[in-house]
Amino acid sequence: RSFLQNLGRVTLAGVIVSGGTFYYVTQRDRHPGLQLPHDDSKKTIAILGSGWGASSLLKGLDTEEWNVVVISPRNYFLFTPLLPSVAVGTLDSRSIIQSTRYITRHKKRAVKVIEAEAQDIDPVAKTITLSDHSPIVGATSTSTINYDYLVYAVGAETQTFGIPGVKEHACFMKELGDAEKFQGQLMDCVETAAFPGQSEEEIDRLLHMVVVGGGPTGIELSGEIHDFLEDDLKSWYPELAERIKITLIEALPSVLPMFSKQLIDYTESTFKDAKIDIKTKTMVKEVKDKSVIVESNGQRHELPMGLLVWAGGNTLRPLTKKLMSYFPSTQTNRRGLSVDNHLRLLVPSTSPDPTGSSSIFALGDCTASSYAPTAQVASQQGAYLARLFGQMAKREKALSRLSELAKADVADPVKDEERKKEIDVIEKQLARAEQQRPFHYSHQGSLAYIGSEKAIADLPFGSGNLATGGVATYLFWRSAYLSTLFSLRNRTLVASDWLKTKIFGRDVSRE
Ligand code: FAD
Ligand code: NAI
Repeated sequence: RSFLQNLGRVTLAGVIVSGGTFYYVTQRDRHPGLQLPHDDSKKTIAILGSGWGASSLLKGLDTEEWNVVVISPRNYFLFTPLLPSVAVGTLDSRSIIQSTRYITRHKKRAVKVIEAEAQDIDPVAKTITLSDHSPIVGATSTSTINYDYLVYAVGAETQTFGIPGVKEHACFMKELGDAEKFQGQLMDCVETAAFPGQSEEEIDRLLHMVVVGGGPTGIELSGEIHDFLEDDLKSWYPELAERIKITLIEALPSVLPMFSKQLIDYTESTFKDAKIDIKTKTMVKEVKDKSVIVESNGQRHELPMGLLVWAGGNTLRPLTKKLMSYFPSTQTNRRGLSVDNHLRLLVPSTSPDPTGSSSIFALGDCTASSYAPTAQVASQQGAYLARLFGQMAKREKALSRLSELAKADVADPVKDEERKKEIDVIEKQLARAEQQRPFHYSHQGSLAYIGSEKAIADLPFGSGNLATGGVATYLFWRSAYLSTLFSLRNRTLVASDWLKTKIFGRDVSRE
């Protein structure tokens, strides 16, 4: 009995201590200490964007030596890999976002966060013109700010190739609002199909979901729609569910060209089992209100549909094109901004940049490089830039100390000897700092969810590649993303959403 009593006391003490620690850690995270104020003697880094590249930079940046301003039309970081799960309600939208102010509140020096869109950049005057395009706009909604260094991380927008009707009639899958809009429209199609007196033909049209683009976005979304259908719609709408059809349209001969051949085959056979119709070598030519025109083998067909999602890849934002136009001789790549191996924008040697080298850095999806436009690349580039700015801060500190020492008039020969030694040490440090290491990308593998509780993964293994697919890979996919989520809050919310979906199913209400 006394053993049980002691065990009870130890367990109780354990629960109190871990609960207290959890409470302390979360409260400390919510209310960090005071921050250093803006300092006019420090240089200013302006960061455009709050996505993967910008947030990774912000996370790693030591702001003690810099004034930092973040400008982005959305005041949060979005964990894009789980966006398709939000589109069908597996996850709640708030679970995969983290406020940018949460990151900046934990910095040594206060960081200014401005919810606005950069409209123009003047690389000579080193200014950014920005404006507020949110629904609520105050008396002042445009402004101009100065920068010493600019980090350009505005990502990309969805490529539509100017195909008629895409912008007007399709849903996209890039931003949180896109996933929320898709969820509402999907349920609207189902409820409209259930409307009394709807003709058989109209029911089939309304229940035909078309996904355009066999890249990872289109594949993951198709898999998620299939899960929603199997796990939930079949029980809530038994009379309609069997008629729901998912079609994936891809212009190329196969889906997922970036994955190994065996994983492409595995995905195609999983989709076949799941009754997701893959139409490869089929090009969308026009999207209408209630149908889509496709071309395959030189023949045009019209497919009636209720809802179409466009996942046709990336293209440059207008602001990126504008920035490139300032440097027509060096910015000639139509895929994006050209940068050197330290992520500095390539500018002509005659550029009127007073520092002699570009003060603009660019990273992520807005750049054209040998890397795929992925979160992995953007976040590693952000972390690299944080280290680079750390080295630059050290260099600036060393230079100012050097000029102090050079000016110092020391009469005492012993002290003068010490001064010379310090100059020597600093000069060596500076010489080392000049040799900044270039950015090096370390590929951690490619992962994608394909529905039916299966995922595929191409993982670097030794000097080769390990291609794996199935339920075990799905568990790996879940744990990999759970651990890369931004914060403890995100991890807790996503894990509890998965549990909630398992127990209660997805919500079929239309907001
Ligand atoms: P983004 O993360 O897109 O951030 C751009 C930021 O710039 C945003 O905050 C935006 O609001 C802001 N911005 C836009 N215009 C302006 C302006 N004018 N002024 C200031 N700010 C502006 N990659 C993976 O590696 N693994 C995955 O599993 C994966 N899954 C994905 C799933 C989906 C559905 C999508 C759409 C993408 C996925 N990706 C994945 C790709 C990944 O999301 C991108 O490569 C990554 O977001 C690029 O980061 P970025 O910082 O360049 O741009
Ligand atoms: P993508 O560029 O990878 O794929 C777009 C597809 O749409 C292409 O295969 C293209 O042939 C097809 N397409 C374009 N126009 C078409 C038309 N008119 N008719 C038919 N098909 C057409 O784009 P996606 O999937 O949005 O991915 C963008 C980037 O984000 C990629 O680099 C990808 O690697 C990354 N990403 C990675 C994920 C992962 O690792 N799990 C998930 C989602 C995106």
